[in-house]
Amino acid sequence: MQNNRQAIRIWDLPTRLFHWALVACIVGAFVSVKLGGLYMDWHVRFGCTALGLILFRVLWGIIGPRYARFSQFVRGPAAVARYLKGAAAPAGHNPLGALSVLALLLVIGFQATSGLFTTDDIMTQGPLFGHVSEATAALMTSWHKLNEWVIIGLIALHLLAVAWYAAVHRKRMVRAIITGDVDAKDLPAGTPPAQDGLAVWLRALLLGACVTALVLWIQSLEVVADMSFS
Ligand code: HEM
Ligand code: HEM
Repeated sequence: MQNNRQAIRIWDLPTRLFHWALVACIVGAFVSVKLGGLYMDWHVRFGCTALGLILFRVLWGIIGPRYARFSQFVRGPAAVARYLKGAAAPAGHNPLGALSVLALLLVIGFQATSGLFTTDDIMTQGPLFGHVSEATAALMTSWHKLNEWVIIGLIALHLLAVAWYAAVHRKRMVRAIITGDVDAKDLPAGTPPAQDGLAVWLRALLLGACVTALVLWIQSLEVVADMSFS
């Protein structure tokens, strides 16, 4: 009997953990900044964690397993056009979806980086605020605020795309980004599974530790005003 329910591992565990941790950080950064006041400390924590996650994902796109690699899913305009004309989707991100993944990484990466130089002119500032001129900090702060709408737009598009593939193409993509597995019937014949075992997880842990150290170092660069009176 043909096994239609057979599933193939496409998204490795570190990529899935990255995705859901990023979702938590973006939601956390938005909620905390809207609450304001003392919650701004949480905004900085969520924002700096998002920065670490984006750095992790960019490097994971180079040293991660097959379907996480940029070389696997970033395709030129010709491949996008062929896909739009109905060419079969490869395993992993399709050529169009890849564009939205790149846009999300770029725009969220920019948000987290600009946040490092941003100030609310009250008591919260990014750790690199004191290292640039007032004009640069003001520019970064206004870009940080403007970029909010680009992020909201891209996330709305992302969610609409996921809903469209589920409703129209009956693709269980949400299950895939949770469990890592895609139904074999939705993949080209002979699709090899992604590596997703101890060696991959240890590589991700090592990378995660390096990225965490880098973000903690950036945070340590904050210039703390001397409020003592002599
Ligand atoms: C703050 C909200 C979100 C952000 C910033 C976000 C961002 C991303 C990013 C960057 C990727 C690429 C994953 C990678 O290759 O590393 C991705 C993929 C994906 N996301 Fe999200 N996501 C969000 C919310 C959600 C939600 C709520 C769902 C499900 C309901 C979802 C479903 C998916 C799916 C199914 C994929 C895989 C797409 C594919 O197969 O090409 N995302 N998302
Ligand atoms: C990807 C992560 C981030 C997101 C999604 C994000 C989002 C936002 C948004 C939407 C605002 C504007 C709020 C408003 O005007 O209502 C804001 C303001 C702010 N953000 Fe972020 N942010 C992120 C990362 C960071 C980081 C890493 C820092 C600092 C380390 C930071 C520091 C600030 C500060 C100080 C403000 C206040 C600006 C003001 O009120 O003039 N943000 N952020």
